[in-house]
Amino acid sequence: MVLEAIRFARRKDSREPSASLEILDQLLLPHRTSYFRISTCEDAHHAIKQMQVRGAPAIAIVAALALATELTQADSESVQIPDSVERTADLIGTRLDYLKTSRPTAVNLSDAVGKLKKVADQAATAANATPASVVEAYVNAAERMLVDDVSDNKAIGEHGAAWIEHNTTAGVQRSKDPKQGLQVLTHCNTGSLATAGYGTALGVIRSLRSRDMLTHAYCSETRPYNQGSRLTAYELVHDQIPATLITDSMAASLLAREGTSLAAIVVGADRVAANGDTANKIGTYSLAVLARHHGVKFLVAAPRTTIDLSTPSGDQIVIEQRAADEVTKIKGPRISAVGQILIDEEPATINVAATGIDVWNPAFDITPAALIDGVITECGVVEKSDGRFDFQSLFTGH
Ligand code: MRU
Repeated sequence: MVLEAIRFARRKDSREPSASLEILDQLLLPHRTSYFRISTCEDAHHAIKQMQVRGAPAIAIVAALALATELTQADSESVQIPDSVERTADLIGTRLDYLKTSRPTAVNLSDAVGKLKKVADQAATAANATPASVVEAYVNAAERMLVDDVSDNKAIGEHGAAWIEHNTTAGVQRSKDPKQGLQVLTHCNTGSLATAGYGTALGVIRSLRSRDMLTHAYCSETRPYNQGSRLTAYELVHDQIPATLITDSMAASLLAREGTSLAAIVVGADRVAANGDTANKIGTYSLAVLARHHGVKFLVAAPRTTIDLSTPSGDQIVIEQRAADEVTKIKGPRISAVGQILIDEEPATINVAATGIDVWNPAFDITPAALIDGVITECGVVEKSDGRFDFQSLFTGH
């Protein structure tokens, strides 16, 4: 069974092309697999904000497809297609601007919004354009994002696996003794659930595994939202990749124990600034500091849509602050007296903090470029030259 966070279908046979979008409710994972329908931009905004879908690429794709779905539903209550091409393009722009307000840190969503607005504006100025042709151009472009994301992730996986094979202490040792396998640690969830499929950092782990080079993956719990223990662990078990879950605070001990026999720490990104400073899930920065201390390579895996050349450094990245409840409470299925997980019952919420305590809950942190050894993209791995990242070449000639 292929793990699919986003299901999009389009019926082109009727006069009015109609689309449908369903997403896997990640709040119920790993215990329950339940898809629900997204029909409007309001549905998508809510699902993204509540983190029923999360992960930078998945957020952007769901937002884009939600508007595609809304625009193609003839009976849509929330939107009526205007009778002029200009107003159709304006409507698309307004709905995209609204979707952009759902979560601030990941750049993929605003990157998608910019590109999709351009598609609608260009379609509106084409010869013989009609409101229907503008909608059609928009839906085609949104659907393309879903397809491209999977192929980009597979390319990221291949580039990352090759880099680790040739540029890490464990990789070089393995070239002398192929019986030695590689171990990798990852953080948060960057897999099929965070993307259209395969994943970025988890895609690198998948590629190492399919090359028969990976002996073990470690995933960190990723408090407070537990994307590691709930989602990455679920994907690793699903793919039968030998793996161990650690709490975030165990990472230092793991690196002290494994040293450079841990080939690399590979993480995803929500926004890579022009100088390489990287916003990613809270806890990423501490892993980068640990990696440097122990001589372990630290890699960021991200598609070019995550690289934001208009943001000079991490200082300008807005870090999303989330509710105190995510830190003070945990939610999950209850356990029966004999240790059975009661998946059919309503999940229970447990309080794990002293009532009245103040809480700080930034969803992301910034890892300085100085601590990053390479940024793995679908076009190859970018390394520093004279101590600086230069991503310009990724965007010229492609
Ligand atoms: O808050 P989340 O779960 O959306 O955060 C996800 C991450 O930080 C991921 O590492 C990042 O979005 C990359 S997903 C390919």
